[in-house]
Amino acid sequence: MRSASRRATARTPCKGTMSTFANLPIETPRLRLRPALESDAQALFEIFADPQVMRYWSSGPWTDIALAHQRIARDLAELQSRASLQLMIERREDSRLLGQCSLHHIVPDCRRADVGYILAAEVWGRGYMHEALSALLRHGFGPSLNLNRIEGDVDPRNGPSVRALERLGFKQEGLLRERWIVAGEVQDSAIYGLLRSESPLAG
Ligand SMILES: CC(C)(COP(=O)(O)OP(=O)(O)OC[C@H]1O[C@@H](n2cnc3c(N)ncnc32)[C@H](O)[C@@H]1OP(=O)(O)O)[C@@H](O)C(=O)NCCC(=O)NCCS
Repeated sequence: MRSASRRATARTPCKGTMSTFANLPIETPRLRLRPALESDAQALFEIFADPQVMRYWSSGPWTDIALAHQRIARDLAELQSRASLQLMIERREDSRLLGQCSLHHIVPDCRRADVGYILAAEVWGRGYMHEALSALLRHGFGPSLNLNRIEGDVDPRNGPSVRALERLGFKQEGLLRERWIVAGEVQDSAIYGLLRSESPLAG
């Protein structure tokens, strides 16, 4: 997922009264959403090195496993500092790492965050991300984070990602033209939003 708001990043104090990281891991019928482990590096690298998976990501495919180690370290640091909730998606039946999902750019004062997600291509089309994001959003709107608004930034050509957001009730709020240049390709951003008041996941 692309970073929806640079302004939010700059202003985010990364501290707050929210007990952001209580109640982890999050379990669903098929999945476990948990903080990263150093041993996730190889599986994470294989997901982020796949050009099909990275087609609409905010950077090109990874070519060095060092990037996986850096991302794991960053995710754990951001978890610790409460800047973001970056979780690995693990399949419960065989403990296989399927992908990642996140609530990042958390702005405590505005009770707002961006959503991010990525899934290994071999497991697309089975509803895993819908299951993961339903649980993540329920957590985000719940007492641990108490969010009021969640945002998504998607390339409008990324059909599966658009469907994933719309299936969860996100509404498109705008189109930012030529917002990204990734590996020389200029890309638009469709900005999506989901409000606490309109989501059944908010309970
Ligand atoms: C975006 C992405 C996670 C979507 O993956 P996905 O597999 O389509 O999403 P889900 O896991 O929710 O599966 C939904 C699909 O599975 C089908 N499905 C099958 N069994 C299902 C089940 N038990 N429950 C729900 N859906 C099921 C749905 O019909 C749906 O298919 P459709 O979109 O053709 O209608 C994936 O394409 C991806 O990782 N892309 C690369 C990274 C990326 O672009 N991330 C977003 C950046 S903005």
